[in-house]
Amino acid sequence: MSASKLPNGPQTPPLIQTFEWMARPLEYMEACTQRYGDIFTLRVGPVFTPQVFISNPQAIQQIFTTDPKQLDSGEPAGIKFPLLGKQSLLALEGKPHQRQRKLLTPPLHGERMLAYGELIRDITKQVTSRWRVGEPFSVLPSMQEISFQVILKAVFGLEDGPRYERLKLVLIALMNPKKPLMRTLMILFPILQQDLGSWSPWGIFKRQRQQIDELIYAEIRERKEQPDPSRSDILSLMMLARDEEGQPMTDVELRDELITMLVAGHETTATVLAWAFYWIHRVPQVREKLLQELDTLGDRPDPNALMRSPYLNAVCSETLRLYPVAMLALNRLVKSPLEIMGYQLEPGTLVIPSIYLTHHREDLYPQSKQFKPERFLERQFTQYEYLPFGGGNRRCIGMAFALFEMKMVLATVLSSWQMELADDKPVQPVRKGALLGPSDGVWMIVRGMRPQNQLILETSLR
Ligand code: HEM
Repeated sequence: MSASKLPNGPQTPPLIQTFEWMARPLEYMEACTQRYGDIFTLRVGPVFTPQVFISNPQAIQQIFTTDPKQLDSGEPAGIKFPLLGKQSLLALEGKPHQRQRKLLTPPLHGERMLAYGELIRDITKQVTSRWRVGEPFSVLPSMQEISFQVILKAVFGLEDGPRYERLKLVLIALMNPKKPLMRTLMILFPILQQDLGSWSPWGIFKRQRQQIDELIYAEIRERKEQPDPSRSDILSLMMLARDEEGQPMTDVELRDELITMLVAGHETTATVLAWAFYWIHRVPQVREKLLQELDTLGDRPDPNALMRSPYLNAVCSETLRLYPVAMLALNRLVKSPLEIMGYQLEPGTLVIPSIYLTHHREDLYPQSKQFKPERFLERQFTQYEYLPFGGGNRRCIGMAFALFEMKMVLATVLSSWQMELADDKPVQPVRKGALLGPSDGVWMIVRGMRPQNQLILETSLR
């Protein structure tokens, strides 16, 4: 085994590295790969802990398969979101993490998940019915509205009414702070988390969080007082779930996981959908081929048939490959000495699989900056070569749900509307907090209804 030594990386002061990483993450990661290869060390973030970035599939396999006792994510690895709470899946590690994953997995998979198809379709139709023919609009806000409603209705199980409206208003205010830079700084530097009254940024945040908690706990209380066995939303299923000792989830666990799913699943799904609309309309052959496939599925595609559609799947996969909305998997903290690619990593080191860099390896994805769904029809990639949802014990628990929602929304919109991009300017990827999003939200124009829908509409009007 080699002596303890970190992989090479830039020698510039940590503050400058942090600035580069915040301002132009993709270019910075690419420049480091060119110079140092597929494993390098950066010193970024509030405490400048060395972070080892990795885009080598064998090393990623090792990370995803190493025992979590030796290498794991969670709060000790620096995953801290003040909104989520200590029982959040993202914050937990070890046995409690494992227990919580077991309880949360069934509602987000299989037949239970497919049953939300109708709801997703209805929400999509309702939101897109506000689009006006000939008027340019940004797609991202519509996708945010869809994914937000899907989470509040399918996951929280809320129905239209005063509680739904209040929760929606406070959550929107909380997730779109008036001073986003200040919010990021407060999360990075806890010393800034000072409640100086209801006008101060942290004071506003704390009061919003309290209102959200009150609304969620009121919902949980009501469900316990008036149980309804016919309910199939994810909160109801979580309330019925029991661990190996027969114990249900506590109210705090239920609250923390609901908020975690909202934070982890809302903006990610919306952003990826906006990218998908961009690429589908940017490359005309892709749109044509996709419409041909969707047309064979009929007006109300069966969820199982939709999930099996090969070209739709390839388009979604390529969208998630090219600009993965999560550039990085979660930090993993080395807990006992670990050798990776000949480097002996000491406890306390952070290891980070770079999803973006792995997805742009020319040996795996030739002409990696081009949108080519065919790559996913021509060959199969391992889960260490293609990892938009991360992997191992931390793999995104909402993966199946997000893919299903993505396919349902795309099929519903593309079968109904004829759309095009509002201009020819290429859309650039930019950092949006921890995510990678389209620079201006993707501007499009609706040209009209697709001919077969026009026919259905005319027939029903006769
Ligand atoms: C296209 C949409 C999405 C993308 C690209 C995405 C991506 C990711 C990634 C990269 C991770 C980290 C995995 C790792 O480090 O190995 C993750 C974790 C997670 N995601 Fe997602 N996600 C999406 C949608 C969702 C949805 C819809 C939900 C919930 C309904 C969700 C819930 C979570 C949770 C709870 C975790 C933490 C898992 C753990 O720590 O055990 N995500 N996601």
